[in-house]
Amino acid sequence: MLKIEDLHVAVGGKPILKGIDLHIKAGENHVLFGPNGSGKSTLLGAVMGFSKYQVTGGRILFGGQDITSLSIAERAKLGVGIAFQRPPVLNGVSLGDLLKAVNAGENNVDKMAEPLHLESFLERDVNSGFSGGEIKRSEMLQLLVQDPDLVMMDEPESGVDLENIALIGKAINQLLQRNGFLDNESIAVCRREMKECRHKAGLIITHTGHILDYVPADLGHVLFDGQLSCTGLNPREMLACIQKYGYERCTSCLA
Ligand SMILES: Nc1ncnc2c1ncn2[C@@H]1O[C@H](COP(=O)(O)OP(=O)(O)O)[C@@H](O)[C@H]1O
Ligand SMILES: [Mg+2]
Repeated sequence: MLKIEDLHVAVGGKPILKGIDLHIKAGENHVLFGPNGSGKSTLLGAVMGFSKYQVTGGRILFGGQDITSLSIAERAKLGVGIAFQRPPVLNGVSLGDLLKAVNAGENNVDKMAEPLHLESFLERDVNSGFSGGEIKRSEMLQLLVQDPDLVMMDEPESGVDLENIALIGKAINQLLQRNGFLDNESIAVCRREMKECRHKAGLIITHTGHILDYVPADLGHVLFDGQLSCTGLNPREMLACIQKYGYERCTSCLA
């Protein structure tokens, strides 16, 4: 679904990503770890096509199509979606109106807001005065309504209390059509028997790894100094290593 080839990205003229290769197949969920400032948000932003991120080399393929020079809107229409780490406040735009604008089909927006406890937020301006957890739930609702094939999430659990992390986890499983299966065997069965399990793919940035308690993840990567230092390993084992030795040592010990 997503293939990134030797991607170099600069922000404000400063090189941030220095040759990223990443392949995410339909049905897979990948996790991206890395210290602050290593370029995690830059990678997601470059895939989405935000103009802040200048691609200075390499290319991004989505479903085999080169999307490197497409606009954000074209990428979104093809099925690329993102939940921001820190989304902006949109004064004068209600959450309900935004949801109507990004609605991929005949989704009943009011109904979809209920499980995320956002029914009373639809009339409010997007993110205006929302708490950290409310912002993250609103991001999930926008993605659910948009229903992208590639679901990119930038620290979906940051600033969210424990009860609400479970809600976010449920929303992510719904987005990825994982049905909340947490063990590999169940996922294998799901893949064999339910074709839709293979239609979606995820790329989740997590700092704490808390979201891994709620969302099954297949492969992990550590972004360190603009490069993927460890790639394609078991995310839980990677997290345990990072917690024990730190990011830098893990880039060698995991390798
Ligand atoms: N406008 C800018 N000009 C220069 N550097 C920037 C700009 N915006 C972001 N950066 C830098 O890019 C680096 C990567 O940022 P980011 O991708 O947000 O990291 P992460 O998400 O891994 O914490 C950081 O060092 C950040 O300070
Ligand atoms: Mg970030």
